[in-house]
Amino acid sequence: MKLAVLTSGGDSAGMNAVVRAVVKIGILRGCETWIVREGYEGLVRGNTQAHSLHTELPADLSALKCAHRGVPTNLMENLRFGDGDLLRDGTGDHHHGRTLKGRYIVRVGWDDVRGWFAEGGTLIGTARSAAFRTPEGRLSAARNLIKEGIDALAVCGGDGSLTGADLFRSEWPSLVSQLLTQGVITEEQAEKHGHLKIVGLVGSIDNDMSMTDLTIGAPTALHRICEAIDNINSTAASHSRAFVLEVMGRHCGWLALLAGVSSGADFIFIPERPPQTIPGGTWEDDMCEAIRGHREAGKRKTIVIVAEGALDENLQPIRAEYVKEVLAERLGLDTRVTTLGHTQRGGRPCAFDRILPTLQGEEAVKALLEATPDTPSYMIGVRENKIIRVPLMEAVAMTRAVADAIGAKDFAKAMSMRDPEFYQ
Ligand code: F6P
Repeated sequence: MKLAVLTSGGDSAGMNAVVRAVVKIGILRGCETWIVREGYEGLVRGNTQAHSLHTELPADLSALKCAHRGVPTNLMENLRFGDGDLLRDGTGDHHHGRTLKGRYIVRVGWDDVRGWFAEGGTLIGTARSAAFRTPEGRLSAARNLIKEGIDALAVCGGDGSLTGADLFRSEWPSLVSQLLTQGVITEEQAEKHGHLKIVGLVGSIDNDMSMTDLTIGAPTALHRICEAIDNINSTAASHSRAFVLEVMGRHCGWLALLAGVSSGADFIFIPERPPQTIPGGTWEDDMCEAIRGHREAGKRKTIVIVAEGALDENLQPIRAEYVKEVLAERLGLDTRVTTLGHTQRGGRPCAFDRILPTLQGEEAVKALLEATPDTPSYMIGVRENKIIRVPLMEAVAMTRAVADAIGAKDFAKAMSMRDPEFYQ
């Protein structure tokens, strides 16, 4: 099997561990392994076209690694050999010394991914590709994969990225026949590539995918938020202040909820469960009553966590700045807003965001090796501490159903489709 791995959508800690695991386990199982740079954009661009984007990209994989370690990239310039050669850098690591300029689909070996599980972000790049959303883009992506002889694709990303993967697979036979008709591929290639194997691994800090307990990167982001709250706690208590923290999560409240639980927050706003208001009152009354109670009990600081997608019962966004005004005006609290932003997403993965991708990477390769034209594309998840496979589109459909339930104000249903254990 010729197996390529790509990362797509917003980066998350643990994506490099996915790439490392898929490559290493792929090699152990006898596969040829490839990485696709810049997500689906790299698939669309392939290895033939010249693009201005190249100037913005590191010139080769070795440079990527060296830049990351603080080694000047030009040290590597002199060491670059032709396609397929190996070289050894000052660190003792081996690299394929292939020039990557203009190459988005790159054959990689064991040593190319050494140590990657400790690195934040995604070293192979990611993008939200507009081109891949067009039929022409997907046709180009199919051509580029067939040209390299690749027949299996592991995609690490959020629900949008995984849906893209499934669509690509379902269109595959038609893409192959178009390429054959256009004379871009031979009969032999068309026959050999009648089926594309796809597997999805969920990389997202939001933990917003149904049918899995955790997405890759969510534990690290949660850890970052907790650290930030620990830091804020000391300054908040010193001044007896209130802090309103806005955290990421898109339409999912997992990060906000779990951060609140882990840090003893006074009040938490999430999209799945608007604040329950006192009969005849408002959520503002509710929040103020709770916080007044905490203050009266002797608490010197107040922490309110607002998920970026938090909604009130009329589906209106709850904004951190507004919460601050309410706390200041009604309770007279000296209040500050802190938006944690992308500090939640970057940085080194915590241990679990190395272990989970490693275990899931193994299952992903296994699922690809076992795939037939009749098996669905699988998403690799984790349920009750077991690595599992679920039909990818079922998980995507359930994820979308949560958003629909919130839109229909059926909050009980939304919560039951997330994770009842956490959300009740
Ligand atoms: O999906 C991950 C995420 O970090 C969300 O939590 C957030 O809403 C979004 O991506 C931010 O996207 P961008 O990095 O494009 O601003």
